[in-house]
Amino acid sequence: MQVLVTGGAGYIGSHTVKALRAKGHDVWIYDNLVYGHKQAVPQDRLLVGNLAEIDRLDHFFVTHSIDAVIHFAAYASVGESVHNPSKYYLNNVHDTLGLLELLRKHHIHRVVFSSSCAVYGIPPKTPITEDMPKNPINPYGRTKLMIEQALDDYAQAYEWGYASLRYFNAAGASRDGEIGEDHRNEGHLIPLAILAAMGQKPPLQIFGTDYPTPDGTCIRDYIHVEDLALAHVMALEKIEAGTHLNLNLGMGKGYSVREVITTVEAVSGRQVPCVEAARRIGDPAELVADPTQAMQILGWQPRYTDLAEIIQTAWKWHSTHPHGFASQ
Ligand code: UFG
Repeated sequence: MQVLVTGGAGYIGSHTVKALRAKGHDVWIYDNLVYGHKQAVPQDRLLVGNLAEIDRLDHFFVTHSIDAVIHFAAYASVGESVHNPSKYYLNNVHDTLGLLELLRKHHIHRVVFSSSCAVYGIPPKTPITEDMPKNPINPYGRTKLMIEQALDDYAQAYEWGYASLRYFNAAGASRDGEIGEDHRNEGHLIPLAILAAMGQKPPLQIFGTDYPTPDGTCIRDYIHVEDLALAHVMALEKIEAGTHLNLNLGMGKGYSVREVITTVEAVSGRQVPCVEAARRIGDPAELVADPTQAMQILGWQPRYTDLAEIIQTAWKWHSTHPHGFASQ
């Protein structure tokens, strides 16, 4: 298939591009490189641009025969979305609707959408199944839910096929060590713990030690980025006109912040300097996926089923790329 991947130079996007190419798909990447990295993708396949540049995208669709779009391009920082919601509604909703309009114009009716477990907000129980209430607690989650709903309506009305993939906590790096996680203003637990162990970042702050969990810290479901990438390829190959899929992608196992720290220490052989800190606003105590539907419908199975294995790939990436892609 000829596939356009928006946001394809980002963390999950670039791993998906790699997985698509490994399966023989013909891939183009559209990314503004605000958070993406040109080194993460084949540069002869990269178009640098914003989602808002409708005329450029229109020209691209006129000159290329695209069968499907995988749409990652979005801002994805929960805290920032609370302080600057307009950035999120404009890019993640308004500009995405502009993209969907172009897809309508060019008769491209297959979409895989990068969604998030943030659509659930604080779940009534875990593990989370897809039918649970969708009550996002921040603008980021609301923007993801709005596009899920738009896709559902478009699919009904225009006979599109779509898959909205709700990721839990993406982690790790490619097994071959070529690409990995390199966020400006890193805020995620695993890279921050590793970088603290390497002495590149200050001691890790443990956000909240009084949650109603066995060790008092938050529990999350960490899923390897290559397993996420594989699910995108499988979803793309599965959807046809009329397919409506909203699927959780997680390992189905939860680990606390303290367990993550202990595992980083075991994998790296170094101590992770940490300090206990107040809760971070908007953090649910526990988010764990029930990924049964993705397994049954797509035939997907996470290949990484152990946190240490996931962290091993992240450790390899960070220790060989101490300055991320700029190390190359
Ligand atoms: N944490 C710390 N210290 C840090 C960073 C994180 O204790 O320095 C804790 C957080 O409080 C949380 C856990 O580690 O309990 C994981 O935090 P991350 O920032 O790594 O990931 P989140 O669970 O906050 O974010 C993920 C996705 C988002 C998604 C969100 C939904 O990355 O895209 O889940 O809640 F929106």
